[in-house]
Amino acid sequence: MLDVFFRKLLWGGLLAACLPAFSVPQTGRQQAQQCATCHGLQGLAIMANTPHLAGQPDVYLIEQLKAFRNGQRQHAIMSLIAKPLSDAEIENLAQWFSSQQIEIKQ
Ligand code: HEC
Repeated sequence: MLDVFFRKLLWGGLLAACLPAFSVPQTGRQQAQQCATCHGLQGLAIMANTPHLAGQPDVYLIEQLKAFRNGQRQHAIMSLIAKPLSDAEIENLAQWFSSQQIEIKQ
């Protein structure tokens, strides 16, 4: 009886510990749909003159998005896009793009 209880507790704990790790990039994935036309859903840019975001360190992506948002960095499109983003949205987006694995081939 007690054994079952502890097993449930253990699995519940494990699940709770893993959920944030799974859900954050998924939230970012959803939000990234608004970036997909130019940067691609996974951050491999579709349009010319648009940088790839896949595999960039999240620290860098967060810094750049905040710079667009507060006007430190200016760009006709990106300044408009970053303006309404919350800190949490910026972090989710950054984690999504930074979690994409890229491979360089020669
Ligand atoms: C209409 C096209 C378009 C859309 C949509 C768009 N971007 Fe951009 N993004 C650009 C362009 C163009 C640049 C290059 C800006 C520059 O030259 O300074 C850029 C630059 C960036 C950069 C800086 C990258 C670097 O290497 O410094 C980040 C980060 C970024 N975008 C994130 C996003 C996110 C997140 C979204 C969605 C919420 C998004 N963008 C939506 C066109 C777009």
